[in-house]
Amino acid sequence: MNKIPTIFIIFGVSGDLAQRYLLPAINAIAKTGMLPNKFQIVGVTRQKNSDYFQMDITDKEDYERLNVYLNEIEKEFKEPTQRIFYLAVPPEACKDIIELIGKSSLIKHNNNKLLLEKPFGTNLSSAKDLVKHVDKYFSSEQVYRVDHYMAKEISQNLIVFRNGNSLFKKTWNKDFIESIEITVSEKIDIEGRVNFYEQTGALRDVVQSHLLQLASLALMDLPKNLDDVPKCRLQALKQLNIVCNIKNEECVKRAQYKGYRNEVNNLKSMIETFVSINLQSNDSKLAGIPITLTTGKALKEEFTVIKIRYKKDDENESNELQLRVQPDAGIEFSIWAKKPGLEHQVSKHKLHFLFKEYYGELPNAYEQVLFNAINSDHNLFTSSEEIIQTWRILDEIQNMWKNNNSDLVFYEKGSSIEQIMENKHLA
Ligand code: BG6
Repeated sequence: MNKIPTIFIIFGVSGDLAQRYLLPAINAIAKTGMLPNKFQIVGVTRQKNSDYFQMDITDKEDYERLNVYLNEIEKEFKEPTQRIFYLAVPPEACKDIIELIGKSSLIKHNNNKLLLEKPFGTNLSSAKDLVKHVDKYFSSEQVYRVDHYMAKEISQNLIVFRNGNSLFKKTWNKDFIESIEITVSEKIDIEGRVNFYEQTGALRDVVQSHLLQLASLALMDLPKNLDDVPKCRLQALKQLNIVCNIKNEECVKRAQYKGYRNEVNNLKSMIETFVSINLQSNDSKLAGIPITLTTGKALKEEFTVIKIRYKKDDENESNELQLRVQPDAGIEFSIWAKKPGLEHQVSKHKLHFLFKEYYGELPNAYEQVLFNAINSDHNLFTSSEEIIQTWRILDEIQNMWKNNNSDLVFYEKGSSIEQIMENKHLA
């Protein structure tokens, strides 16, 4: 473990992400005794009279002031120190902050890290531009692109599960698997994030990041060692493509909950709050398996699950593996058994494994994210190549939507995914 003295600089410290996730996560790591002994948080905010370091993030002089302030802390540390810059700010602010850090004396420090939150661009070309922009000032080892889904317990367990259980390892291919479905179903609506959501939508918000990352973990070749994980994920993404049936729209379903347009005060908004897309992999081991990624807001149920459906050999012999990310993280497998009784009857049952029954409540994923960044472990972070691949996959859909807007359907809040997919109970 890296006990190197650390200054953790949070841009946007008074914002939602910092207050709800980052500060509590640092607190939680501190309680485990795993933080470096010399550790200081510097919260950057434009708000005056706060407990944090006040600066105007658009003023280059203020970056020099920040540098002087950090130098003073380091003098007290009396040891080589790493500086971690966490940009917990709206995407439009990121580019300028990176440039102003890059053009100030801050960049001359010999141990800088940059942590970035999504969205990383809005399409393939803007993502490429953003990568180029970051590359101007930071090397790839210094940059950590956060996707907190990758740090959830089940995501980290996917590799262990696939590698450590020979039954599943041997059958993780097209000969045995019928279909793969990955779903992030949320009960919450956009919760007042009007500007963010109007610029984003479900495809960019959750599919580009969390869902494609979960897919890459489920589809990748197993790595020889953990350092190879990002390369394997990248390889899996390179082989993924959306499937288009004869009519283009059939590979994608998009929908918007009723009331959204009033909420965002844009009566013509085409932003989707629900999306489901069909993909296939070119990997010869997985070719032909239908892969479905689905997410939505204001839905009936709250869950994130990876479902692997196995082929049946007979009417009653299809099994299903569910890797449940949340709530109640765990693993579930359906089996068929004879019902006790004089008549021969067969029924389906579930084998359950719940992490909390053995280990109590799980830590928030941000604890792992920050811990890994402090310790220079890149495995749970997305590389720029992965980001580019996710946009390659989704650009096709975005281009399709640009040229056609007749396919958006509307659903009542609280609808189930099935209802939306079958156009039932739609507004
Ligand atoms: C965020 C999205 O990245 O993930 C949100 O911007 C979404 O729209 C959230 O609600 C889901 O994260 P979690 O950890 O609550 O499942």
